[in-house]
Amino acid sequence: MQPLRRKTPLFTTSEMGAMKGRKNNNLSIFVVVFSIFLFGLFMYNEDVKSIAEFPFSSPKAHETQEGGEPNKHVDSVQEDNVVVVQRESEKKDVEDSVTVKISKSTSRAQLEKSGAEDEDSDERVDLKTVVEKEKKIEMPRAEEEEEVEEEEEDEKVELPPEDCDLFTGEWVLDNVTHPLYKEDKCEFLTSQVTCMKNGRPDSLYQNWKWKPRDCSLPKFKPKLLFQKIRGKRLMFVGDSLNRNQWESMVCMVNSAVPSYNKTWYKTGSLAIFKIEEPEHVTTVEFYWAPFLVESNSDDPNMHSILNRIIMPESIEKHGMNWKDVDYLIFNTYIWWMNTFSMKVLRGSFDEGSTEYDEVPRPIAYGRVLKTWSKWVDDNIDSNRTKVFFSSTSPLHIKSEDWNNPDGIKCAKETTPILNMSTPLDVGTDRRLFAIVNNVIQSMKVSVYFINITSLSELRKDAHTSVYTIRQGKMLTPEQQADPTTYADCIHWCLPGLPDTWNEFLYTQIISQS
Ligand SMILES: *[C@@H]1O[C@H](CO)[C@@H](O)[C@H](O)[C@H]1NC(C)=O
Ligand SMILES: *[C@@H]1O[C@H](CO)[C@@H](O)[C@H](O)[C@H]1NC(C)=O
Ligand SMILES: *[C@@H]1O[C@H](CO)[C@@H](O)[C@H](O)[C@H]1NC(C)=O
Ligand SMILES: *[C@@H]1O[C@H](CO)[C@@H](O)[C@H](O)[C@H]1NC(C)=O
Ligand SMILES: *[C@@H]1O[C@H](CO)[C@@H](O)[C@H](O)[C@H]1NC(C)=O
Repeated sequence: MQPLRRKTPLFTTSEMGAMKGRKNNNLSIFVVVFSIFLFGLFMYNEDVKSIAEFPFSSPKAHETQEGGEPNKHVDSVQEDNVVVVQRESEKKDVEDSVTVKISKSTSRAQLEKSGAEDEDSDERVDLKTVVEKEKKIEMPRAEEEEEVEEEEEDEKVELPPEDCDLFTGEWVLDNVTHPLYKEDKCEFLTSQVTCMKNGRPDSLYQNWKWKPRDCSLPKFKPKLLFQKIRGKRLMFVGDSLNRNQWESMVCMVNSAVPSYNKTWYKTGSLAIFKIEEPEHVTTVEFYWAPFLVESNSDDPNMHSILNRIIMPESIEKHGMNWKDVDYLIFNTYIWWMNTFSMKVLRGSFDEGSTEYDEVPRPIAYGRVLKTWSKWVDDNIDSNRTKVFFSSTSPLHIKSEDWNNPDGIKCAKETTPILNMSTPLDVGTDRRLFAIVNNVIQSMKVSVYFINITSLSELRKDAHTSVYTIRQGKMLTPEQQADPTTYADCIHWCLPGLPDTWNEFLYTQIISQS
């Protein structure tokens, strides 16, 4: 297929102005000084922490191309406040948002509506990041130490047979073993995911255990996990869903080591949870790279890019940060979903190129995965580093998909889909799933595919919905009362579903000697 040719400037004049402004030296000095002030002011302010954690946003992205889509209709949802297009039939919605975008873009009104505050918060976050590099929190010894000691009875964990398909099975209620940790006992969770604290009335979503059909997942033992990763680096690389999984892993590890020196900080594209002992340093890290390759959406704090553009053959800039890691867990999906085609830069951002081609989503995705697999094969010593890829994390936007005509997106759901007699289609782009699966088969380095897609499709109950933040702020009661507009049916509550994804990772980690 011949890609469409475009000659469009990457940035409008006012955006360019803003970018130059940010690079200006005097401004940086001001920024640093101001940051110290703000840092003092907000050091322990949860709000700021959330802002740092949650991307800002921006008016809605627009949809430009159709054709060749297997799905029947378009769903528009928001990932980091950008419209996600899954299917075609609701395309009109999306076109409406194009109008919104055009009428507001570059206007003062835009700055005021989503902007003014965001501009402010963007800066704040930048500053905070600068300061945070220096920041170290010594966590007080936690009181639940004894609990952990108690659990130390070294009974052997039973591993599933190697040939057991862990991903085919069912959700069973098990409130004895699940949740794996308590929401209010993990101080590292961000307000994006702490649904109970944010007012969610039901908690059953925390109590489901994944039961493979032909075997069982091993019992989760935090101490055992920590023993295995002690002195090592675990790194999640990808988008906000991988960040969701990273937060879960931090809590799973955290519960094993209440008394050690724990630090949580951000530096550039990395967020790091670090455990320091005299003999060992252990880290659980998250690296922001929503497309894995280089893109104009790589700023870890400011994601307000409407016009997402990637360089599918360029990965080294990110890749250099992934070396010398012991466990690498990749993903990329949600950022592909706001348009049917992907904008591919001609040339490079460094050279100031501004022209791009529009390439069909699966073609561009294939190119990215090829670049990624080559990087892994060329740079990973599989004797040292274990590589994982988390498959697509699904969305739940249309309650008709699971036969609930009275539902509002995922907002009214309190139980998983348990009747599996009819096939389920929640609009997942399976083509991308298949590309990852195929690419992995052809690689020299063996990559463990964490096949979370189908089992997560059943978990319409597990999203953060209206019990979350948006643009760094907790939803107001008015917003919470309007799930049609505000429910987040992309990300997941913690404790919750991503803990199960990590149980697969845990199973692999403890299976290796
Ligand atoms: C992924 O798991 C589902 C069941 O959850 C299974 O039907 C599917 O075949 C698996 N796909 C791959 C590529 O392993
Ligand atoms: C687990 O669920 C059962 C059935 O709903 C309930 O009776 C029991 O009290 C629950 N146990 C815990 C520990 O929450
Ligand atoms: C905490 O860190 C200090 C300095 O790195 C070290 O001396 C001490 O042993 C650590 N504490 C524990 C419990 O590991
Ligand atoms: C990995 O280990 C195997 C067996 O110990 C060895 O034969 C191989 O050369 C090692 N590979 C690398 C890249 O070091
Ligand atoms: C499961 O769903 C199918 C189709 O909607 C329905 O015919 C069947 O009765 C359901 N089974 C149960 C146990 O609810």
